[in-house]
Amino acid sequence: MPLIEDCHVISGQAHLPARINELLESAPITRAVVLRERLNVEFPVLSDRLSRLYGGNKNFSDWLNQLVIQSLHLALARPDDLWALDTQRASQPNWHLQGSLGYCAYTDKFAGNLSGVRQRISHLQELGVTYLHLLPFLKPGTPPNDGGFAVASYDEVDPALGNNQDLQTLTKELRAAGISLCSDFVLNHVSHEHKWALKARAGDAHYQSYFHWAKTSEEVAEQEKSLIQIFPNTAPGNFTFIPEVKAWAWTTFYPYQWDLNYTQPDVFAEMSQSLLQLANLGVEAFRLDSTGFLWKRAGTNCMNQPEVHWILQALRCITNIAAPGVLLKAEAIMPTQDLPPYFGLGDTKGAECHVAYHSSLMSASWVALAEENTQIIQDVLSHTPALPDGCAWMTYVRCHDDIGWNVLRPEMDARGADQRARLLHASQFFAGKVSGSYAQGAAFQASDPTVVHGNNGMAAALVGLTSAQTPAEQAAAKSRLVMMQALSLFVGGLPLIYMGDEWGQGNTSAQEIAQRQGPDGRELHRPMFDEHGFANRHDASKIQGQIYAALRAFIQAKKQNSSLSATHPLSVFNTGTSTVLGLKRGGNVLGLFNFSGQPQTLSPKPAITQNCMTNGTDLISGKAIDLQGLQLAPYSAIWLKK
Ligand code: GLC
Repeated sequence: MPLIEDCHVISGQAHLPARINELLESAPITRAVVLRERLNVEFPVLSDRLSRLYGGNKNFSDWLNQLVIQSLHLALARPDDLWALDTQRASQPNWHLQGSLGYCAYTDKFAGNLSGVRQRISHLQELGVTYLHLLPFLKPGTPPNDGGFAVASYDEVDPALGNNQDLQTLTKELRAAGISLCSDFVLNHVSHEHKWALKARAGDAHYQSYFHWAKTSEEVAEQEKSLIQIFPNTAPGNFTFIPEVKAWAWTTFYPYQWDLNYTQPDVFAEMSQSLLQLANLGVEAFRLDSTGFLWKRAGTNCMNQPEVHWILQALRCITNIAAPGVLLKAEAIMPTQDLPPYFGLGDTKGAECHVAYHSSLMSASWVALAEENTQIIQDVLSHTPALPDGCAWMTYVRCHDDIGWNVLRPEMDARGADQRARLLHASQFFAGKVSGSYAQGAAFQASDPTVVHGNNGMAAALVGLTSAQTPAEQAAAKSRLVMMQALSLFVGGLPLIYMGDEWGQGNTSAQEIAQRQGPDGRELHRPMFDEHGFANRHDASKIQGQIYAALRAFIQAKKQNSSLSATHPLSVFNTGTSTVLGLKRGGNVLGLFNFSGQPQTLSPKPAITQNCMTNGTDLISGKAIDLQGLQLAPYSAIWLKK
């Protein structure tokens, strides 16, 4: 491994290159002192990770120094309020775990544009939201653009949604309301209309080096052997022929999304600086999109390569230097066992992303609902490690993507060779193709009914709310929805609610889908926010009001009881029946989740009475509850505190 000659640490002080010292000496003293402290910690690590990636390149030291200098300029340009926030957060590593609640929405569908989002702040506050993930709002390529995930400029807001000033105004107002804005940061690929792609297409060798190319169809075929298909129906294959270049660009997702080549150091430098610029506009969290795919290695599936983690750790160092109040969230939709490295392992523990999606728990919850059996959730949770300080799982019931079933393959395979059929059953169940199913979702990327991939649909449609014909069916659907959310809230460090799920919004109408450009099955759960349904959220006689009130009760309970915080360890306990999931948080809180459509009576076995509590207070109703003989209503969730 190459060494950095001009950086070593002597008694906690990093010896900084002369150019960096000069910059700090000319900077305002208060900031210079703090930046020097941060560099003492971060520069050695940053140098190490980047030298692993790029140390073999000539001029590496100059390149590294330049990167740090640019980052320091951005740190010096950081607005005072954000600088103050950085300082405050640096002293509280778990700041994002205290009563946090996420909300995720498309700007246009939720509120028209960025200014419109400001009109929704009071709603978000009422719900208890502390973190708002607005789906891609940077300038995208011409549609179809994968819902904005094909970015044409990382430095400009999508003109259809506003401008950079609107973004800054919004982040300020959100911050004043106690809400951090999260932006997608699409690291893995850019739109084919991004200036780098246009220059590459026009023959510029430097910008061609920003992408991965296969020169022959044989090379493509060879690579494909070990790669997976993300969109097997709508975008089969991982390469797209670009006639002007006479080569195939690597396009893991859609053909108009060109994968970036992170062996090229300038890609890392440019992306990291764009991230810091957005942070200076007040973006407080970044959802690092498709992180698992950042590094390609021939003969592998090109997912989760060690270099991915060096890239992310280097990015974390850079944010720790220039914007340490910023939170990094890994979007790595991978089986549970592949996720711990995204938080950092061994001596890098806690030094990578602050948050990662727990997609296996999400998918497992849906399987459990279809099966009325919680075994798969128990399996997933038993593979879920405790996290380092300052790290959290993002839990969720639904998001803008499909429910992917393949993340559960390891758990299924561990149970037996025939168990994957359960994923197919779940997929068919939520597509409404199984007798007795109440769901109105659809299969995703699987034209062959025997192949399982993902399912689409809003939560309300999947739990049977939109198919309910009778008050009893409606009540059952409501209970399913609230129980699923209560589970996500119980487990999550940062639970996330998808737009409209707080009051039970249904699927996008067929008419609306037909008007959208670029058919993608995920449009089913990307409806325009329905003002009519939303207006009923405070009306207890309406189903929307009932869902909203029930969900808010769990949210409030979580906020008011610090013993429910994800900083306390989580464990699974045996309730004596696999239809009821039993979770214990710390020493004095229990969560019981009845996934069955039948009432369940608990007759605690020794496992419960010895390891947990025999009674407690229901955190929602405030009533005293004895676990012995407790009857759980169908699809109910109970949180108990000793
Ligand atoms: C992420 C996004 C998804 C998008 C993909 C490619 O997985 O969540 O919506 O299609 O990245 O950018």
